[in-house]
Amino acid sequence: MELEKRKNFKEMMLKYQFAKKRLETEMEILLQEYELSYGYNPVEHIKSRVKTMDSIRKKLTRKGYKVTIDNILRHVHDVVGFRIVCSFLSDVYDLVEIIKSYQQFIIKEENDYIKKPKDSGYMSYHLNLLVPIHLFNQTEYIEVEVQIRTVAMDCWASLDHKLRYKLPKKLPLALEQEMIHCSTEMMKIDAKMQELYKIVKKNKIRE
Ligand code: GTP
Ligand code: MG
Repeated sequence: MELEKRKNFKEMMLKYQFAKKRLETEMEILLQEYELSYGYNPVEHIKSRVKTMDSIRKKLTRKGYKVTIDNILRHVHDVVGFRIVCSFLSDVYDLVEIIKSYQQFIIKEENDYIKKPKDSGYMSYHLNLLVPIHLFNQTEYIEVEVQIRTVAMDCWASLDHKLRYKLPKKLPLALEQEMIHCSTEMMKIDAKMQELYKIVKKNKIRE
């Protein structure tokens, strides 16, 4: 039977939906608490999605796996994607600490692509969490990929994504190098903004 029509496939996708909802709610609470305590909202915007089957299929095929439920669970770590875009670099690390100290989630994997950007120039902090979902008679842990980044990093990643998807294959070398250069420039902007933010915070400059 076609994968999408199978009961266990539908069940799996429903669990991913539940995990996304659970994380949305928990994050809303965490962030409201943070704002109440510190009088500051570190988040510019949040985006979450469950990957389409088309996209899951493409990812598995690209990695050389057959499209099966088992392979989705094992090899597609971002069926649920959750992106938090922050104002300043320090906000990214503050949020990472808040999420990591939250007892409800299990940290499955952690990658700091800010300290060590990917070869492409991609920067973000990645946390792969196992989020508990409560079913009739058991609790299950579902993987969610959380990407935490600044507005500058988000700008780079969005444009990079668009460029790559416009092209049938890999980016030409010259373009790839230009993108690495842009990423370095974004890093400088983030560092500068962080400096300005520090000055403003220290002097409590208003208007
Ligand atoms: P996956 O097989 O996708 O898990 O790749 P990975 O394990 O090598 O990397 P990781 O899980 O740390 O990050 C994967 C996700 O990060 C992707 O799905 C993208 O959303 C994002 N990402 C990683 N590299 C790039 C990049 O060069 N450009 C953009 N735009 N996004 C990237
Ligand atoms: Mg991964």
